[in-house]
Amino acid sequence: MPQIAVIAGDGIGSEVLAEGIKVLESVTDDLEFDHLPYGADHYLATGETITPEHMQALLDYDAVYLGALGDPRVPSNVHAKEILLGMRFQLDLYINLRPCRLLDARYCPLKDKGPDDLSFTVFRENTEGLYTGVGGQFKRGTADEIAIEAELNTRKGVERIIRAAFAYADTHGLKSVCMSDKSNAMRHGHDLWQRVFKEVGAEYPGLEQFHLYVDVLTMEMVRAPERFDVIVTNNLFGDIVTDLGAQLQGGIGLAASGNLNPDAGIGMFEPVHGSAPTIVGQGIANPLAAILSAGMMMTWLGRPELETRIERAVRQCLEADLITPELGGTLSTGEVGDAVVAALCA
Ligand code: IPM
Ligand code: MN
Repeated sequence: MPQIAVIAGDGIGSEVLAEGIKVLESVTDDLEFDHLPYGADHYLATGETITPEHMQALLDYDAVYLGALGDPRVPSNVHAKEILLGMRFQLDLYINLRPCRLLDARYCPLKDKGPDDLSFTVFRENTEGLYTGVGGQFKRGTADEIAIEAELNTRKGVERIIRAAFAYADTHGLKSVCMSDKSNAMRHGHDLWQRVFKEVGAEYPGLEQFHLYVDVLTMEMVRAPERFDVIVTNNLFGDIVTDLGAQLQGGIGLAASGNLNPDAGIGMFEPVHGSAPTIVGQGIANPLAAILSAGMMMTWLGRPELETRIERAVRQCLEADLITPELGGTLSTGEVGDAVVAALCA
């Protein structure tokens, strides 16, 4: 039976994950959930974010289901950084898979765009780039201060994310792969992306392949999102364009993601949104991103038919206005979860 480590984390994390688990339990009884305490409470009580041993122990699970991390009582956010980025780096979850699919045209801020126009998947490199902390500060706090944040691009890292993007487009029968960088200004690292993209792309002559500078990509995502099937990009650009993508699909409450290492057989699934401390405990957090992330986890565990069913049920709830207040509805977090379960069982 697949073992899932559940890290609810902070804020609304536990509220939305409860709905994701409720939905999963309504479609299968073949999952075992192990609830782990990592988050701000645990950090404040023990001084420990997550130990190296506990991090390694996550590899024994088939998947990790994460809520959100971030708490005003920990202004440095050290626990969020060490747990979330810690998982991505130490478990080498090199693919951050972020689908951007419009499920209901009414939630799209773009004029005259429907679900057929907005359906692409971003492959965000998840283990290097500008996120590694390579760099340093010199003469901190003085008028002569220098701060360097180095962007790390390795041949291995760039190649494996580009390969994953092409393989995904190929196996899913998609038309094109777009690689986005800023090689007109960043001439070393992004030149590597250019060369690897061409090299790996040559192995997929049947796929349309094109490149856009990231500034142009943001324009095109708004002007003509129908151009895109698969977008592959680096860590920081992927972070930024997937928030844009989240808004195009109806808001951060609908954006799901998976952090994957297919080689090590470990995947971590989380809604793209954060812990939303201002609405904690009010029962108004939108659980749909967490529910859709649970669906992605099912595909990861070899049950893609369950993801299809969950996504269809979510679409039905959106169509029937069975939604939380930020989308214009009147339902609570738990009622939206119940509505998804009802749609699944109908
Ligand atoms: C995300 C978040 C994180 C990131 C933050 C919390 C470090 O914004 O998962 O998109 O930048 O990756
Ligand atoms: Mn982000």
